[in-house]
Order: sequence, then structure tokens, then C-alpha cells
Amino acid sequence: MADPLGIAAQLLSPAFAKVAGAPATDPVVRASDHADAQANGALDVARRLGRNPREVAGEILAATGANPVASLDVAGPGFINVTFRGPFLDEQVTLMSQDSRLGVQLPTTLETVVIDYSAPNVAKEMHVGHLRTTVIGDALARLYGFDGHRVIRENHIGDWGTPFGMLIEHLIDEAGTATVADFAVGDLDAFYKQARLKFDEDQSFKARARERVVKLQGRRDPQTTALWSVLVAESTRHFNELYAKLGILLTDDDLAGESTYQSLMPDVLTRLESAGLLIESDGARVVFVPGFTNREGAPLPLIVQARTGGFNYATSDLACVIDRVERVKATLLLYVIGTEQSQHLQMVWAVAEMAGWLRPPVRPVHVNFGLVLEANRKRLRSRSGDPMKFIELVDEAIQRGRRLVADRSPNLPDDDVGTLGRAIGLGALKYAELSTDRIKDYVFDWDRMLAFDGNTAPYLQYAHARIHSLLNRAGLTPTALHGSVFHISTRHERKLALRLLSYDGAVRDTIERCAPHRLCAYLFDLARDFTAFYENDPVLAAESGIRESRLALAGLTARVLAHGLTHLGIAAPERM
Ligand code: ARG
Repeated sequence: MADPLGIAAQLLSPAFAKVAGAPATDPVVRASDHADAQANGALDVARRLGRNPREVAGEILAATGANPVASLDVAGPGFINVTFRGPFLDEQVTLMSQDSRLGVQLPTTLETVVIDYSAPNVAKEMHVGHLRTTVIGDALARLYGFDGHRVIRENHIGDWGTPFGMLIEHLIDEAGTATVADFAVGDLDAFYKQARLKFDEDQSFKARARERVVKLQGRRDPQTTALWSVLVAESTRHFNELYAKLGILLTDDDLAGESTYQSLMPDVLTRLESAGLLIESDGARVVFVPGFTNREGAPLPLIVQARTGGFNYATSDLACVIDRVERVKATLLLYVIGTEQSQHLQMVWAVAEMAGWLRPPVRPVHVNFGLVLEANRKRLRSRSGDPMKFIELVDEAIQRGRRLVADRSPNLPDDDVGTLGRAIGLGALKYAELSTDRIKDYVFDWDRMLAFDGNTAPYLQYAHARIHSLLNRAGLTPTALHGSVFHISTRHERKLALRLLSYDGAVRDTIERCAPHRLCAYLFDLARDFTAFYENDPVLAAESGIRESRLALAGLTARVLAHGLTHLGIAAPERM
């Protein structure tokens, strides 16, 4: 089953090919206000053949001939209006309701997709930027998984590199005043700042920190490695707590931090060397990447080994490409990382291509995103002036959700307020993130994201719960309605049915473009189409036959809403 635009294209394609005299002629089918769909391709064909477009459109109609799918007519300068026939719509919606994939077709090729997301840094607090990658990456993991691809989630945590020299050295200095095991992550964050300060101000500390990195990277000093593990374990415990609270799929099994690639890093250098790409520059080893220049216009190198001999972020990302392609055998590499790191990624991939590690059909994609801003359009910060902490946002979302539920339903038992409040609060937080085009910066606004009107999670969750309560009154559930018989006839029924049938296209589009906001926009339109239908066409009071069909339409709408929300990582409670 395809979505309505796809069905229209399929219907018209043979006639287009015949009239145009070429097999690959796009009918250019679009949504339309005047009909169920509109094909604009006749204009192109006419231009190419030097003929009158209305005449060409007429010939295409004639070549399509009488058919059970849709009635066709020529409009304006040569558009073809497509209006699906009632029985055809009934049949399509019936098929959709019998399908556990809700009409979403499987993709033509199944891939092994690595999704690199969340990736916080050890001993540092997660900030709002990590909220974005975590929420978007998780939605993509769910959607690609539903689509049948082999999904490998990778949490590329920052657990390696120069900061660990100063962190471990500071830990050793502090020993005696506090045992490492007692540090909580709040402390680790402050701890990081103290270490940083010392590193910037104390030359001998700086020197010790540098030596410590070398010891760490050599992995030959057990004490160093043990202290490092303590820092990593304490941090990942904190990350996991947050993931569980927010309902994120990531677990310890998905950890693939920078240190994971450590043993591969010398190999990266050897391979670059033998490819003739490695160059000495100021004692460091670098690769020059054509097309990349610094502000002065001089060629910009990617540093893969520092003067001290240490490897860096770029080296681990290069090793990571090798690992993903050669060991994991991934064909699609999604990097859910802020736009700020675009140049880093472009350079890493360019080097990997030059070295021959990355080549078609393997494709890397930067699933980039902009900043989260305050109303004054500055970066979102917490009261202390630091970047807003991830955990603060999550806790506040839960609190606000609870308050909202308690205000709306004063008699609800505490437990239910808790569960529902969490579903609404976290749903709102995630949806605000997912419903805006990720490449744009967006303004963070609690009131807007928690509103029951507009393109928000509470609006969709409420629309979903309201259908459950409607069905409830008829003694039904959405699942009880699988395989019902549909009779689509009124204007609002038609509009709703066509929207339901477009779910396939919306999901496909969302996945192919890694653009969750498209699925959000679809769900919002669906909820609105349902409301218009429900306000205009009586359901429970309708005569028998029509009543069943309308209840089934409601049930199918609820299933699609729940399916869409769940695959965005958002709860769809049945009662609100
Ligand atoms: N840890 C990095 C940060 O917090 C993000 C890592 C993203 N993944 C990667 N393969 N570079 O900015």
C-alpha cells in the first residue's frame, strides 16, 4: 500500500510515459486544495514536446482510461485533478487498519545504521546541547528500528584525551580529603572546574597533567587506569540515571566512547602514513584536507597526533570510522551532533575518504542541530550563568507536568498524578525538541510546550486519550476495531481518511531526511483533521453502519497517534 500521492503517481505514470514517449516521466503529484491530489507533470511534458498543455493533459486522461481508483479531470492550464473513488478509499483504509505496520511499507533496501548520539563527556555535567542529540537520536533509533533496519546505537562518550590528565592528577592531589568512590557527579562537575583552574594557573600542575595523559594513553600504569575507571564509572552511572528517567533507549551496551578506539589509533597513523597522507607540522602529525582553510586562507590541517605524542578527538573519530565500516559493517553512519562540529566531521570524513576507508555505498550523514535559546535569543543558561544543565530541564519538566495534571484533575490519586505528570512533562520537553526543524535554533518556552493547544505533545496526547474515552463509551478499544469495514463519505471523513493513508509517506519522509519534525507536523494535522471530523459528524449517535465505520475511523486515528508518538519516544496515555 502506498500513500495517496504515491497511488496517484502510480495510476498516472503509464499514461505519462506513453504520451511523453519516455518511460521516466514524473507526473509531479502534489497535495491540492481542489482535489485529493494534483498532477502537474503535463505542463513539463507539453513544454518538452512544444504542445498545448491542456491537450497533453487530456491525452494523458484518455490513456489512463476508466479505472476503479480515481476520477480525473483537467484543470487550469493543464493540471490533472485526482479524486479518489469512495469504494477505493474504503478498501485502502480497511487494508491499513488490518496492517500492524499501519500501511507503512518496508524500505526497498535494509541497511546497517550506526546512530551516534547523546555522547556526553565524562566528569562533565550534561548540558542542553546533549538534550538535543539525545532526544533526536533516540527518536531516529526507534524509527529506523521500526523500519526494519539493523540499528546500532553508539554513545561516543568523551572518556579520553587531555582533560583526563588534569582530572586524575587533581584526584591524586585531593586524595585524603575525599575518597574517590564518594564523589557524586555534581561534585565531579565542580571537581572538573577546580582541575581546569589549577591547570590554567599552575605550571607545574600543567606539566604533571601532561605526563599523566601519556601514562593513561600508554595503559601501562595500573594506578592511572584505575583512577580513570572510577571517573568513567561514576559518570556513566549518572548518564544512565538520566536516560532511564527520560525514557531513552541507551544502556551500557551502547557505550562506545573515545577510549574504545584507543588500540586502533596507532593503526590510523600507520595507515595514513602508508597512504602518503601524513605530514609533520611543528612537531605534530597532521593531514591536509583540500578545500579546508583557516581564517587567513592558509590550508587547514587535521591534527591526528599532538607534539606530545597524544592522540586527539580527530584520531578517535577516524578510528571510529574504520571500526564502523570494517567491523560493524555499517552502510549508513548518522552523527547526531550540533552544527558547531560540522567542520570537524567534514574534515574527518574527507580524510577517511582520501585514505579509502569511507566509500560508497557507505554514507556518513551529519544530523546536525542548532542552539537552544532563551526568549532574549541568547543561549539557554541556568541561574548560575552556566549552560543549562540537562538534568535540571528533565526534573523541571516532570514537576511542571505533575502540577498541570494536579490542577486539571484535583481528585486524581497521587500515583496517577505522578505517572501522568511524567508522561505529559517529558512528552512536552521531547516534543518541543522534535517538532522544530532541528537545523534551526529554537526558543525554549515551558508555557508553549505544555499548552493543550497548538503543535504540542499535550495536544496530541489529549487527542489520543479523548478517542480512547469515546471508544470506551461504545464499549470498544482501538485494537477491537482492527479489520472493521469502512464507508468513507462525508467531506470530513474523506479528509481524515486521506490523512490516515498518508502515514506511510510521512514516516518515509521523516526517516529519509532524519527529520522528526515532519512526523510531528503530520500527527498534528491528523489530530486536527480528527477534531474537525468529530465536531461535524456524529459518531455515537450515527445510524448503524455509519456508526461502526466512524468508530473505526476514530480507532485507526488513535492507533496512528499512539504509534507516531511512541516512535518519537513519547508516551501516549489512554486516559488524561
Ligand atoms: N562528546 C562530544 C561532545 O560532547 C560529542 C561526540 C560526538 N560523536 C563523535 N563521534 N564525535 O561534544
